Amino acid sequence: AEIMKGSFDHFMQKEIYEQPESVVNTMRGRVNFENHKVTLGGLRGYLNTIRRARRIVFIACGTSYHSCLATRGVFEELTEIPTQIDIASDFLDRRGPIFRDDVCVFVSQSGETADTILAMRYCLERGALGVGITNTVGSAISRETQCGVHINAGAEVGVASTKAYTSQYIALVMMAIQLSEDRVSTMERRKEIIDGLYKLPGHIKEVLAGAESLQQLSKDTLSHEKSLLIMGRGYQSATCLEGALKIKEISYMHSEGILAGELKHGTLALVDENMPVILIMTKDSLYPKVQSALSQVTSRKGQPIIICNTGDENLIHEYKTIPVPQTADCLQGLVNIIPLQLLSYYLALLKGQDVDFPRNLAKSVTVE
Ligand code: G6P
Repeated sequence: AEIMKGSFDHFMQKEIYEQPESVVNTMRGRVNFENHKVTLGGLRGYLNTIRRARRIVFIACGTSYHSCLATRGVFEELTEIPTQIDIASDFLDRRGPIFRDDVCVFVSQSGETADTILAMRYCLERGALGVGITNTVGSAISRETQCGVHINAGAEVGVASTKAYTSQYIALVMMAIQLSEDRVSTMERRKEIIDGLYKLPGHIKEVLAGAESLQQLSKDTLSHEKSLLIMGRGYQSATCLEGALKIKEISYMHSEGILAGELKHGTLALVDENMPVILIMTKDSLYPKVQSALSQVTSRKGQPIIICNTGDENLIHEYKTIPVPQTADCLQGLVNIIPLQLLSYYLALLKGQDVDFPRNLAKSVTVE
């Protein structure tokens, strides 16, 4: 069946707005919100092999790589399995060591990205267990891996990936939860995360409801700029990288995601009263450290726009802010990426770019 834009102007816009439903489709039949359990049918028979792995190696490209970065913290926390994350092309360049007791997870929206497929074959040849996380049933990655998870986000047409990111993120969180279900010590934490997943569609809707003020913000403060730094740390460092990628891909504006802990090791030299900065400062255990990044920026006369939690009055009174609802720390990135997706969309529109088909890029890169 032909995929239609319906009442939307662009596929990307439609896909951003679909997220309250696509995240539910990813969890459907898998997350039991009453007894706080996750069951991923595609991993049946392999859970104990994965639990006993010497390490888990995540391999992906582009936005899919960012979903691995975004969930690494919670994956390590819940499973206590050492993890490694690689960009597929870089992994292939190194031809790094892979062993029979490694578990390699290939994350790919299309399941057809050449670099990720080549990395998968390299790992499978060395006897590792392959796990495929894709949005495309029957794709090379889902066919050739021994087990995996379909993210069920529905077809994604816009070259800039949006709903696949949030669904990959959830698939990886679900996998971490299920792998740790044999450990009593993580029970309370698993409950907290599953309760957060339950509330997620509502939280995403709340951010989408603020789209108009984001459109205004893009017009008034960002559309005439040449460059934009997006800063944050911890769970939000992936959000910064993914937000900056969205902006580059479709608005062609230079943007960089900056890990706030690294600010003083170089990027701070760029900061002055003219350098546009977005700072992600939602409430988690690193909040005090992000506060120090904020003062590093403001003491150089920077005027950051701050993504903060609704109700963070001090920030809301003093700065230009983008308020978002608070959720479990490890899920906050699912909420925080939404305003950045919308900002990139509006910036591209204001600049008159082809939102769904940006120059030089392809939805699925099937050559090395
Ligand atoms: C291309 C797309 C990106 C995507 C990346 C990886 O560059 O434009 O949106 O994140 O490929 O694609 P995959 O299908 O492997 O997730």
